[in-house]
Amino acid sequence: MDTISTSSTATGITKENILAAFQYRHATKEFDSSRKISAEDFSLILETGRLSPSSFGFEPWKFVVLQSPEIREKLLPHAWGAQKQLPTASHFVLVLARQPGDMAAGSEYINSIMQDVQNLPTEIAAGKRQVYDTFLKSDFGMEGNERAMFEWGARQTYLSLGNMMTAAAMIGIDSCPIEGFDKAKTEQILAAEGIMNPEHFGLACMVAFGYRTGEPRPKTRRTSDQVVEWV
Ligand SMILES: Cc1cc2nc3c(=O)[nH]c(=O)nc-3n(C[C@H](O)[C@H](O)[C@H](O)COP(=O)(O)O)c2cc1C
Repeated sequence: MDTISTSSTATGITKENILAAFQYRHATKEFDSSRKISAEDFSLILETGRLSPSSFGFEPWKFVVLQSPEIREKLLPHAWGAQKQLPTASHFVLVLARQPGDMAAGSEYINSIMQDVQNLPTEIAAGKRQVYDTFLKSDFGMEGNERAMFEWGARQTYLSLGNMMTAAAMIGIDSCPIEGFDKAKTEQILAAEGIMNPEHFGLACMVAFGYRTGEPRPKTRRTSDQVVEWV
């Protein structure tokens, strides 16, 4: 990689600081349970999730902050990848993705986003709906494939996941993304607890936040020559 200068960017953040945050972030397996993230810092993290980009701006996500120790414990047997994170994280977030019914062109959800969030005039919304319908059916060929539709929404939730973890690292907060769980069983518990309405949402991934207990192992990555190709 080329040398990174320390000069400020247009946002005032130095390039060196940005890279330092990426080096600082690591998948934290266990947190110091005596340390809690402040409300202000955690709001900042959630805000970076909320401000994340989404296809057509349809925001196919919901972030559930799971602070109940009882429900965290109920998830534990079905979340092999969160054995130490679930009991020790200061904040634990369930990243939900919208179900295919909500993401279909012409659904109540899509219509309400265009009307109430994006404030589009009726005729503009109708045009956008048409383009979106073609995109789903023809460009991405997802018509009739419920799993592909769900995963397409889930993919977008991972942008918010990445942004939240990077923002956390920038302010010295640790995190761990988690896919190590039994989706069906976990969703069953969340539905039974009234936390997730399975008609509208499924569980895309989870993410734990808190403070590290010790220093992580040095980062391992393939070289930039191995992962970047210029043509
Ligand atoms: C989508 C995704 C799911 C992951 N799931 C888990 C998990 O369930 N449990 C866990 O401890 N780490 C999980 N990780 C962390 C990875 O193992 C980790 O990011 C990777 O080994 C690189 O290490 P680093 O993040 O510390 O640099 C996950 C990472 C990603 C991106």
